[in-house]
Amino acid sequence: MDQDTKRFLSYIFLQARAHSRFLLLGLTFALLSSSITGLGTWSIKPIFNFVFEEKNYSYFKFVPLYILLLFFLNGLFSLFQAYYMKALAVRVINGIRLQLFRKCLFLPYSLLIKERSGQTVSKVINDTSQIEPILGESFQIVIKESLTVWVLIAVAFYQRWDLTLLILITLPIIIYGTKVLGTKARRARSLTQRATGELTHKTGEIIHGIREIKLVPSKDFLTQLFSKELERFYRLSLKVTKYRESSKSLVDLMTGLGGALIIGYGGFLIIKGNLSPGAFLSLMTAMLLIYTPLRKLSRAYTGLKEAQGAWSRIEELLSKEEERGGGLRVLETNVGFLLKEVSFRYNDDLPYVLEKVSLFIPARQMVALVGPSGAGKSTLISLLPRFFDPTEGKIYLDDHPLEDFDLESLRNLFGMVWQEPFLFNLSLWDNLTLVKPMATEEEVRSACELAQAWEFIEKLPQGLDTVLGEEGLMLSGGQKQRLALARVFLKKPPIIILDEATSQLDTLTEKAIENALQTLRGKHTLIVIAHRLSTVTKADKIVVMEKGRIVGEGRHEDLLSQSPLYRELYQSFQRRI
Ligand SMILES: Nc1ncnc2c1ncn2[C@@H]1O[C@H](COP(=O)(O)OP(=O)(O)OP(=O)(O)O)[C@@H](O)[C@H]1O
Ligand SMILES: [Mg+2]
Repeated sequence: MDQDTKRFLSYIFLQARAHSRFLLLGLTFALLSSSITGLGTWSIKPIFNFVFEEKNYSYFKFVPLYILLLFFLNGLFSLFQAYYMKALAVRVINGIRLQLFRKCLFLPYSLLIKERSGQTVSKVINDTSQIEPILGESFQIVIKESLTVWVLIAVAFYQRWDLTLLILITLPIIIYGTKVLGTKARRARSLTQRATGELTHKTGEIIHGIREIKLVPSKDFLTQLFSKELERFYRLSLKVTKYRESSKSLVDLMTGLGGALIIGYGGFLIIKGNLSPGAFLSLMTAMLLIYTPLRKLSRAYTGLKEAQGAWSRIEELLSKEEERGGGLRVLETNVGFLLKEVSFRYNDDLPYVLEKVSLFIPARQMVALVGPSGAGKSTLISLLPRFFDPTEGKIYLDDHPLEDFDLESLRNLFGMVWQEPFLFNLSLWDNLTLVKPMATEEEVRSACELAQAWEFIEKLPQGLDTVLGEEGLMLSGGQKQRLALARVFLKKPPIIILDEATSQLDTLTEKAIENALQTLRGKHTLIVIAHRLSTVTKADKIVVMEKGRIVGEGRHEDLLSQSPLYRELYQSFQRRI
């Protein structure tokens, strides 16, 4: 057994041990069911000899009853063992799913966005669900059928060891063939999995970009791309089937060979008077019965190998290092952020998007970031809650390097609103109180009022209980922004960052929100990014950025005279209104 398989099996076993009750029950019933099979096969000889050879015909009527009883018990025990083994498998799989889910929560943001999103999602969803039936089946098969095989071999050996050995020579061929085919199936399965991921990704792209696609004059190009993916998927799927079915056929062929051997040689022995018909019948039955579990076992092995392929991708994700913070817990900030010569690039082979940025963001003041699109404003603020860490340079909060803080407590300081806020497929209430689970209805309502969201929530038939999402209500961009703002007003975190947070609102609503924000001034650190300069003119400090650098810093009036870029931005804004 290779290293990977060992690790896989010991991992699965470790998971299974957590549910030892199911494992034990499953094993017990498997043992009972195999014993019944063994008993039935073994008893053929004494019964045959007693009833037919010794001519006790009056007992013959019990034979069908005996057979019926054995089959009934076997069926009953099989049912129980299948039930408990399936329960075990699903529990193990759900355990893995939960682990994956938790893992995704704690992986660094930079890593999560680097992975192709379709791939990561397919890993979590597809790989686990593909392991489940395989594992559910394999678990039972491996345990029950291998027990049965051993019991049957023991019975056969007991009858005639020499004949049994003769038949067992087909076993190595089966084992070797299964192994080779199993490995191939695993490789193919792993590729299929990846292809499924790509397909999921592509399909998602179509739905997301459907409006753009509808405007494309010829759809042939896109269709061709998609059908190429489908073709690849088709070929890979067939490959898996090919290997899986071949290993089944191999066992069938060997069954034929075994049958031929036993009938040929056994018949020869009977004719020579060296074997009793009862023993021959029992032996024959044992051998024929062995091949069924063997066929199942070989399928289970291929299945296990396939599951292993899927598992290796799950393991890869599970082994990724989680983000880590320090031990310093923080509840508020009194000094502010200090960025020292901070440079940043998203990737080693991408250009720097922040270059030697040094900046002080004083606590409880309002700081505005302005600059042309692509200047690095959003990038800069995403360094503050450590969504990314600087490539070079250092960031301090209240004189401590950011890495020293406990991540959860650091991030709990923030409330952030983006241009395209994300809302969960939950009720409005749940979406809002996510940031403050103990909030009262009064608090939620007043937060919504401050964010100018109450006017539309009020009109909904279910109010705050309205569920968002595919089946529920779809919100407009501006409504989403207002809900995200309501979250901030509800939580009232020490640091509030608004990145184009009111860009989709009309001027009147924006004005009302600005006024509401004014009430937070002096108590909270406010960092605002806005293209509409009316929002920022009142800031305590305006930072002008261009191409990853800070090119101006000061109050509105100072910058108007000192920074040509700021003047230009402001004038073009003035012209627009
Ligand atoms: N996830 C990312 N991976 C790689 N590059 C990125 C990523 N996000 C942004 N960039 C690049 O970083 C640069 C700065 O982007 P950023 O979003 O910080 O600009 P911005 O000032 O916020 O612009 P805008 O006003 O348009 O929002 C851009 O050149 C952009 O291409
Ligand atoms: Mg931006």
